[in-house]
Amino acid sequence: MKVRTLLTVSAGLSLCLALAHPKRQNSTSNDSRPKLILDNDWGSTDFVTVYQALQSNYHLIGLTSVTGNTWSLQSALHALRALQLGNLTGCVPVYEGATYPLLNTPDLFQQWQLIHGAFPWQGAYAPYNATAESIGFNPTSGDPNRVNAPSFIGGTVPDQSLLAGRQAASFMVDAVRQYPGQVSIYAAGPLTNVALAVRLDPSFAQNAKELVVMGGYTDTNLFQVTGDFLQADINNDFNLKFDPESAKIALSANFTNITLVGNAANGVFLNATDLQEITAINNTLSAAYLQYAFPVLPVWDFTALEVLLDKQSTITNSTQFYVDVDTSYWSPYYGEIKPYQQILAPRAQILKQVTYPFDVNTDLVKQKIKQAIRQAGSCAEV
Ligand SMILES: *[C@@H]1O[C@H](CO)[C@@H](O)[C@H](O)[C@H]1NC(C)=O
Ligand SMILES: *[C@@H]1O[C@H](CO)[C@@H](O)[C@H](O)[C@H]1NC(C)=O
Ligand SMILES: *[C@@H]1O[C@H](CO)[C@@H](O)[C@H](O)[C@H]1NC(C)=O
Ligand SMILES: *[C@@H]1O[C@H](CO)[C@@H](O)[C@H](O)[C@H]1NC(C)=O
Ligand SMILES: *[C@@H]1O[C@H](CO)[C@@H](O)[C@H](O)[C@H]1NC(C)=O
Ligand SMILES: *[C@@H]1O[C@H](CO)[C@@H](O)[C@H](O)[C@H]1NC(C)=O
Ligand SMILES: *[C@@H]1O[C@H](CO)[C@@H](O)[C@H](O)[C@H]1NC(C)=O
Ligand SMILES: *[C@@H]1O[C@H](CO)[C@@H](O)[C@H](O)[C@H]1NC(C)=O
Repeated sequence: MKVRTLLTVSAGLSLCLALAHPKRQNSTSNDSRPKLILDNDWGSTDFVTVYQALQSNYHLIGLTSVTGNTWSLQSALHALRALQLGNLTGCVPVYEGATYPLLNTPDLFQQWQLIHGAFPWQGAYAPYNATAESIGFNPTSGDPNRVNAPSFIGGTVPDQSLLAGRQAASFMVDAVRQYPGQVSIYAAGPLTNVALAVRLDPSFAQNAKELVVMGGYTDTNLFQVTGDFLQADINNDFNLKFDPESAKIALSANFTNITLVGNAANGVFLNATDLQEITAINNTLSAAYLQYAFPVLPVWDFTALEVLLDKQSTITNSTQFYVDVDTSYWSPYYGEIKPYQQILAPRAQILKQVTYPFDVNTDLVKQKIKQAIRQAGSCAEV
């Protein structure tokens, strides 16, 4: 098993070299496409975002991991497997990111739940559960550096030595320095790496092209209490609430453009017809997707990425508002956003105006997802 994995990896690497498009061999100097960094708490199905990016006009310059649904190491390894699935190993660097949120810890979070009520989905904060891990759930609580083979596509752990390093935030800072005004940051997990990059380099935010965040729900409380457990889960702003302090730092940083993809993504599901179409694709990616997907959940991260890749066609109706994040541990809304219209916005702190889609073109997003799975992609398209 081990030998086979190694062979696959080296075959992937040489294939990458062989396929590298001449234009890309000196991509630093003459690739004028806009740049994209995908930051996520990667899981088994998030590989789709890599292939969405390959189908776009963006230059995918790196994948970074963050602790959220699981610990950042496990998450980084999912990102490696995402590349491996399409023979892209070595063609896009993967950086491991922050292991812990700025202040929150599994213990503090458990105490918070006792005071303010439980999260339907707790991600890495959930208590350690050996049974769950043995059947393929990602690691939660306990040692953040452990990895869990049954969670990965194929059931083996990707080769950790292929990670480019542990400093996702430094990578973001360096990328924005190298390509000022050109780098879009896609953040589909907690905002810890983005907050660290903001703190590392005070010019980081303003020199990035934009920040697009999956999260920032508004007025979902009623759905959380009038639906079932799943409805409560779908409407809980997990990414922001996992690391509230980072969310506040990232969303009040001096980015020229911030898009919060909140509730609009909650309405995008792959239905039975979509799943049949994916089944008919019958390639490596479709098989992996069907094996690991939870179709009862919205395709949040894929939707947020389509918003980034093609705002014009994807956002059908949007608004703009100033935004703050509740960072009081003693608040039941800890980690949730508070939107304001300009004339009523706080004066004693500098808040940023964000773009907030009311609605997205659901059929277009689903079409792009299916296209990404069908086309896969090669190193030449990175
Ligand atoms: C890349 O482009 C730069 C500037 O055009 C040039 O100086 C350099 O030699 C090129 N490198 C390669 C490997 O072609
Ligand atoms: C990856 O490479 C293997 C071996 O060459 C090939 O069988 C497979 O179809 C490729 N996968 C994709 C998604 O291109
Ligand atoms: C642990 O995970 C298993 C499998 O998902 C589940 O049935 C069980 O309820 C979990 N235990 C606890 C204490 O949550
Ligand atoms: C924010 O960025 C703009 C450029 O986008 C710059 O003019 C302004 O000085 C920056 N503000 C702060 C507080 O850094
Ligand atoms: C930010 O992005 C939104 C949505 O694409 C766009 O309408 C707006 O003009 C952009 N603002 C700036 C300052 O680029
Ligand atoms: C499933 O989604 C497709 C678009 O992807 C749509 O055309 C179709 O009407 C939907 N089917 C149902 C039963 O909602
Ligand atoms: C998928 O493709 C394989 C050949 O690669 C074929 O044997 C199999 O029947 C196909 N399955 C479906 C559902 O089309
Ligand atoms: C956009 O959405 C808002 C809020 O749902 C609604 O009031 C408005 O009529 C919509 N505009 C269009 C053009 O659909």
